[in-house]
Amino acid sequence: MSIRHKGRIPERSELDPIEIASRDEIQALQLTRLKWSLRHAYENVPFYRRKFDEAGVHPDDLKSLEDLAKFPFTTKDDLRANYPFGMFAVPREQVIRIHASSGTTGKPTVVGYTRNDLEVWAEVVARSIRAAGGRPGEIIHVSYGYGLFTGGLGLHYGAERLGMTVVPMSGGMTERQVMLIQDFGPKVIAVTPSYMLAIADEFERQGLDARQCSLEVGIFGAEPWTEAMRREIEERFNMDAVDIYGLSEVIGPGVAQECIETKDGLHIWEDHFYPEIIDPATGEVLPEGEFGELVFTSLTKEAFPVIRYRTRDLTRLLPGTARSMRRMEKIRGRTDDMLIIRGVNVFPSQIEELLKEDARLSLHYVLEVRREGPLDHLTVMVEARPDAADESAREAAARELAYHIKNRIGVSAAVKVVEPGKIERSMGKAKRIIDLRRLND
Ligand code: DLL
Repeated sequence: MSIRHKGRIPERSELDPIEIASRDEIQALQLTRLKWSLRHAYENVPFYRRKFDEAGVHPDDLKSLEDLAKFPFTTKDDLRANYPFGMFAVPREQVIRIHASSGTTGKPTVVGYTRNDLEVWAEVVARSIRAAGGRPGEIIHVSYGYGLFTGGLGLHYGAERLGMTVVPMSGGMTERQVMLIQDFGPKVIAVTPSYMLAIADEFERQGLDARQCSLEVGIFGAEPWTEAMRREIEERFNMDAVDIYGLSEVIGPGVAQECIETKDGLHIWEDHFYPEIIDPATGEVLPEGEFGELVFTSLTKEAFPVIRYRTRDLTRLLPGTARSMRRMEKIRGRTDDMLIIRGVNVFPSQIEELLKEDARLSLHYVLEVRREGPLDHLTVMVEARPDAADESAREAAARELAYHIKNRIGVSAAVKVVEPGKIERSMGKAKRIIDLRRLND
């Protein structure tokens, strides 16, 4: 595990009291808030009233936190079926901001915020940036996309709340990203980890040493990433890289944050978001420490309460360390991104970990899956690093990677090591999987 601490560890006196409250205090607050949230959803959103009634449960049935398991789940399909504003629990006039996440097909998922929701969001993001090692008065360079995506504006208002100087750069224009980092001297950057690598490449292309730049802390999220990716970014920028998690349906970034002093998974801001882990197949709540699908219930949200929202993200819950709030392990992958190659489950993150072990390979990669006859075939395409780009080096690296994938993950994959620059860069979330199976059906 990499512990560096170029970024500053906050003093205990700087933390919100609830971050270091006792478990009893946290649970008492959660119970009060959960009762409010269930009632608020039931009384103001016809969808929740119908779902609760059908399941034969009423908000009054919640006497303890465990009783939440009696209530029905909410899925992305439910949100789509109520497009665009059907899930709002307040009159539309009280919703002062809309965000939306683009689905790959069809209509986006629309979420809304009251003034108070925006306050809470700014607060949890400010708390996240502080936990990451950012502090008032420093400059933060925000390269998450601005717009309907929650990344840019979410980090923006949280950073302002903390008292930082915000550079609202958004994604893209990579050359200019490097120029402004060089000229403005930000200590903190907030961006997807995949795009951070593109920025690192651009430093090199311009003949600049990224390790000499002003950045001390990176707040990376919006997509799955691995410890291998953390090491790569920390080495290339000589900085601390920490993980931020969130999803628009729950609020946006700032649902959970890794602390700079421990870098041991993400503390969930449990005073606002109540987590459960379920077995994705049966829906059964799993005991703490077991691996499964993360489910969230909002505790304070007014405009867009979510009750037992199925995130499709796979992780497990662990006890608190640097804070009293429980941690979630780094997301291993999404249920949607799990490939089943001849009966073996494969996540892009497993491949990513292997790439870092070979000095000839970069972490720019995509996985292509196609169906030939009854069987799925996996092709891993990865860029060589610039100093190992000749054909024979690439072929040797490809053979070795195929061997390690078979040996360590248990699937046969075709590996193509391509020249630097051949894999499309994303300016936001990287697309790691090209699924051609449906085309072949
Ligand atoms: O990605 C919010 C966000 C913005 C988080 C900036 C962090 C930083 P959505 O576009 O709704 O919202 O996508 C949410 O992205 O369910 C996960 O699958 C994935 N995701 C977000 N953060 C992480 C992370 C934003 N740290 C979906 N690790 C989530 C792994 C993440 N996956």
